[in-house]
Amino acid sequence: MHILLVGGGGREHALAWKLLQSPLLTRLSCTVANPGLPAGAFLAQAAADPVAFAAEAGVDLVVIGPEGPLAAGLVDALTARGIPAFGPTAAAARLEASKGFAKAFMDRHGIPTAAWSLHDRLEPALAAITGPCVVKADGLAAGKGVVVADNADQARQAVREVFDGRFGDAGRQVLIEERLSGPEVSILALCDGKRALPLLSARDHKRRYDADQGPNTGGMGAICPAPGLSPDLLETVRRDVLQRVVDGMAAEGAPFQGVLYAGLMLSPDGPKVLEFNARFGDPECQPLMMMLDEDLLPLLVSAAAGQLPDRPLRWREGAACCVVMVAEGYPDAPSRGAAITGLPAPRADAAVFCAGCRQDGPTLRVDGGRVLGVTAHGADLSAARAAAYGLVAGIRFDGADWRRDIGGADGSHG
Ligand code: AMP
Ligand code: GLY
Repeated sequence: MHILLVGGGGREHALAWKLLQSPLLTRLSCTVANPGLPAGAFLAQAAADPVAFAAEAGVDLVVIGPEGPLAAGLVDALTARGIPAFGPTAAAARLEASKGFAKAFMDRHGIPTAAWSLHDRLEPALAAITGPCVVKADGLAAGKGVVVADNADQARQAVREVFDGRFGDAGRQVLIEERLSGPEVSILALCDGKRALPLLSARDHKRRYDADQGPNTGGMGAICPAPGLSPDLLETVRRDVLQRVVDGMAAEGAPFQGVLYAGLMLSPDGPKVLEFNARFGDPECQPLMMMLDEDLLPLLVSAAAGQLPDRPLRWREGAACCVVMVAEGYPDAPSRGAAITGLPAPRADAAVFCAGCRQDGPTLRVDGGRVLGVTAHGADLSAARAAAYGLVAGIRFDGADWRRDIGGADGSHG
């Protein structure tokens, strides 16, 4: 099968790494020149017009990594041309693209989430703040449009910043949420429009610095599975969150096909949804792909065709850990250009996924905020952590930084 992969960060490198192990794959084409992908896979024509490329090149399935093209309707355009695509339509991707839509949808379908109000004007938004709360820009803001405010002053300041245009169009509306507490976990599921087939649990580490200090980022590292989740809890999430979303979207005429990502807080009152994404998480996708113990390609094909298998997925024993190495200045003003050395030789139980890098002749250079996702498997979480950090220690570039506590005792709160 000829697969066209849309996107080119660490998530897409991990998907490509897994797809390249499939005996069903005959050709992989990509829309982004990620140096981790096979030479020749990047095609400028595919980047400029993925729909025309897929039609002309006889692509069997288009796999879309990032949220932008999903929200912009790439799946709708492909479907209109009869080209199979893995990912939700624009209508279904609103679960991620509009936090206001997602909250109202959850209320309509009895999906547990924090209490909320949505505002398009400053004064009513300020009036809704009475103490600690969470302020979110409504639209897509690359994981950065959220402020967890300790008090009303901080929350008011955050609301003003959103309305001042700090997040562009994403901030035309602001969501004010009840502030929850508890450990965080990401539960993703493959969906075929009718059914949600859960993946292993994962845990992202969103804050920039150790012990969950500093600003939110796209994600500084992830582990899979998240420790300590009981089978009962996972079944509750499958039944009361993931399957309710799939049923609710189908009932509302926008069936959800692709990856549904539920970001959850395990509050004292039970699991509550913090956010939905309509795609694989990044970096969560990296340890997830390292743990998946079966061929990814037929799963994506069957999801797109509305026919996911009626059985649990197969996973490796043990755990996987991904440590994200970031550029100096990330997330505010990452610097580019530093040469990267010390990459390990490829192994079955570890991979260094390229997120923000580019090939410059023989030299790999830093070309984005999140540079590398150093991902390793181990017999348990501490072995996976040790393996990932062992690889990190050998990789060098000027200004390189990373969190030291991915999967550690302080890393349980996202
Ligand atoms: P989001 O992008 O909506 O997942 O929010 C980013 C991060 O902000 C989450 O991973 C949480 O750490 C935090 N957060 C979001 N919503 C809440 C909430 N209602 N209560 C407490 N923390 C939250
Ligand atoms: N790592 C969180 C996300 O992909 O949104």
